[in-house]
Amino acid sequence: MKRLLLKNGKVVAEMGVVQTDLMIEGDTIINLGPCDAALENCEVLDCSGKYILPGVIDAHVHFYMPVGPGIYTIDDFYSGSVAAACGGVTTVIDYVEPMDDQMPLDAVRERRAEAEGSIAIDFSLHYVVRQWDSKYLQQLDQIVNDGLTSFKVFTTYEGMMLPYEAIHELLKWCKDRGVLVTFHAEDDEIVTRATQKLLASGVVYPSFHADSRPAISEAEAVRKIINLAKSAGAPIYFVHVSSYEGAKVIQEARKDGLNVFAETCPHYLYLNSGIYKDSSDPQLYIMCPPLRDEGERASMWKAVTEGVFSVIATDHCAFSLEQKLQAKTFNETLAGIPGVETLLPLMYQAVNTGEIDIVQLTHFLSKNPAEIFGLYPRKGVIREGSDADLVVFDPEKEVVLKGSELHSKAGYTPFEGSKLKGYPQATILRGKIIYQDGVFIGEKGFGKFIPGQKFKV
Ligand code: URP
Ligand code: ZN
Ligand code: ZN
Repeated sequence: MKRLLLKNGKVVAEMGVVQTDLMIEGDTIINLGPCDAALENCEVLDCSGKYILPGVIDAHVHFYMPVGPGIYTIDDFYSGSVAAACGGVTTVIDYVEPMDDQMPLDAVRERRAEAEGSIAIDFSLHYVVRQWDSKYLQQLDQIVNDGLTSFKVFTTYEGMMLPYEAIHELLKWCKDRGVLVTFHAEDDEIVTRATQKLLASGVVYPSFHADSRPAISEAEAVRKIINLAKSAGAPIYFVHVSSYEGAKVIQEARKDGLNVFAETCPHYLYLNSGIYKDSSDPQLYIMCPPLRDEGERASMWKAVTEGVFSVIATDHCAFSLEQKLQAKTFNETLAGIPGVETLLPLMYQAVNTGEIDIVQLTHFLSKNPAEIFGLYPRKGVIREGSDADLVVFDPEKEVVLKGSELHSKAGYTPFEGSKLKGYPQATILRGKIIYQDGVFIGEKGFGKFIPGQKFKV
């Protein structure tokens, strides 16, 4: 079997950093420790001065997501996964969004077929529960057994959201089956009221996006969901937490011993809502929930360092410039931004500035998402027996981010012009180098579906 030796890198293992060699055989890590390349029949990659990180798991992406009749996010499973690979991401977790009345097994089969044969990195899937009806239960049980062990529920968007009573029933059902329910938390009543108030007074500009979805709507939805989870005794996970107001509610619940996990995204840590007013194209920064004011943004780092968040993911939901800019109002703009390729390099800047250390970085980006979504220890860690999903990371490489040089079909990045120190040099997926020195060298369709194990409390 083919062997690849990563020589003399700084290996970021679960407990700490060790300067050593790492041997891969086939698709698996087989040895961590000094190894004489001359005695082994292997290809050698010199990793002196580089970190070897576990491959990043982006637990929140939307490739080829339908957003309206004939309208999809611009990155399909191939282009999205190429962008991911070029940023050190080896596994993504995307979503199955059933159509109205579509049965779960059909929805999952169709979604897997869209990805398989196209995606270049490994993937898993969350299932979006849009309707809670006994007619779905048998098939929901089946998809859980097939490896879709996390669901997503919306608390806003007509046609997508579940009412709070249904959420309570769903949580009780999921708790007994090892399913983790993840939540998009924005209280619909508050968002609708704020939006209608703006529209009624003729304020429609995209620059008012943040005003239409205030931070209090997140905090309120988080509070309600936590109460339901407490009553149901179910673990829960909040996706894309955008505000310190929301984070504080989560922090209190965690202090009370509740099984509450939370994810945030680089844009909520590095960008603020001032950009909606300052930019001539505010549409390019519209996502839901929106960016928050500078005070909230700065406090989000406090939440990161105090352990509120387990996962940092991107919510990569890319649209082209043309798709984004065709809308002239905040509520008609397609919501979502690209991010999968810049996740690791952006978050590494927090290692440079000392907010987190390199081991914590790998916990946010690899180990924790793997554990929470049932992929561990096959994914998310560097240890003998795990998949050889790795990033050779050059901590000295300086890069200025340019949308035109990234691989998403979006063609832009909200982080345009950011000066970064530290960038992936190579990405390895199951023992195969799929990205090296700025070039994608992977293969269309090489990605595999990785079933999630059931959540263990
Ligand atoms: O604006 C966003 N985040 N779009 C993607 C869908 C979602 O709610 O995660
Ligand atoms: Zn969401
Ligand atoms: Zn999302």
